[in-house]
Amino acid sequence: MQDRFNSENGFLTTLKRNRWPLILTFLSTLGIILFLYFFYGYATDIGPEQPIPFSHRVHAGVKNIQCQFCHPYVGRSKFPGIPPVEKCLYCHNYIIKKFPWIQKEHEYYNTKTPTPWVKVNYIPEFVFFNHQRHIKKKLACEECHGQVKTMDRLKENRFLMGFCVDCHRQKKANLGCWLACHN
Ligand code: HEC
Ligand code: HEC
Ligand code: HEC
Ligand code: HEC
Repeated sequence: MQDRFNSENGFLTTLKRNRWPLILTFLSTLGIILFLYFFYGYATDIGPEQPIPFSHRVHAGVKNIQCQFCHPYVGRSKFPGIPPVEKCLYCHNYIIKKFPWIQKEHEYYNTKTPTPWVKVNYIPEFVFFNHQRHIKKKLACEECHGQVKTMDRLKENRFLMGFCVDCHRQKKANLGCWLACHN
């Protein structure tokens, strides 16, 4: 009795005797953690790869270009607008014009191909959302889109109803779901 509880030997022998099951358990746990990390964590932590590695951090953050310079319709229509390549070239005909990615922009421009940007924000089809009302109330872009200015690649975001309702409750905005948000 005494030996089993007090000497390290007892414990070590048990470990040694079971080393393969223990090693296997350890490795499979590690495997599962890594799998989950890459499958969920990694995939949702930075957004999808874009055809041109456009960075909001560089443009809206470091260079402090206003959001509405590139998304001019956000306060006026249902569609904020993703800037066409002409708008990029407005600056990039002068700025870093030899840069390979800027060359790719020229290719899009010359072949009249719209840049195939990958969409990252989703809202269910049946939800009526309009930026206009929100921008008029002086809600900051960040309230809904997060710190875009610090992101190189925008993350995928699926807006859920709770998100809309929480803020509507807080700001005493319309909560009549069927009248307001659902068609
Ligand atoms: C108002 C001016 C302006 C507009 C419009 C603009 N850019 Fe830029 N862009 C800059 C500046 C300034 C830099 C930084 C250049 C430097 O690092 O010297 C830059 C850097 C870049 C880089 C370099 C890579 C990096 O992340 O540092 C890429 C790629 C790029 N822009 C793509 C685009 C695309 C695509 C568009 C259109 C959607 C666009 N830019 C629109 C001003 C602009
Ligand atoms: C120089 C131009 C430029 C500026 C300035 C800019 N954006 Fe963008 N924005 C783009 C381009 C190009 C895309 C499409 C590529 C992408 O998703 O990164 C985009 C995409 C987005 C999207 C995602 C659209 C989708 O796919 O659902 C959001 C949200 C957004 N911008 C918000 C902002 C906010 C907020 C600011 C200001 C803090 C801002 N943008 C400033 C050019 C710009
Ligand atoms: C009240 C929340 C809210 C605010 C504030 C807000 N947005 Fe959005 N934004 C959304 C939602 C929800 C979507 C997705 C809806 C959709 O795709 O139609 C979206 C989508 C976008 C898109 C992508 C549209 C597309 O065609 O794919 C851009 C770009 C964008 N927002 C820019 C902005 C900018 C710039 C501002 C600030 C001037 C802003 N947003 C403020 C909620 C908001
Ligand atoms: C950060 C706060 C905030 C978030 C998030 C938000 N809203 Fe709003 N919303 C408001 C405010 C404030 C108003 C009131 C605007 C007014 O009074 O003109 C409003 C108004 C509206 C209206 C017009 C209602 C009416 O009276 O006709 C609709 C529709 C709407 N929001 C839908 C949505 C949807 C859908 C979402 C989620 C994708 C959402 N909102 C997310 C703050 C928010």
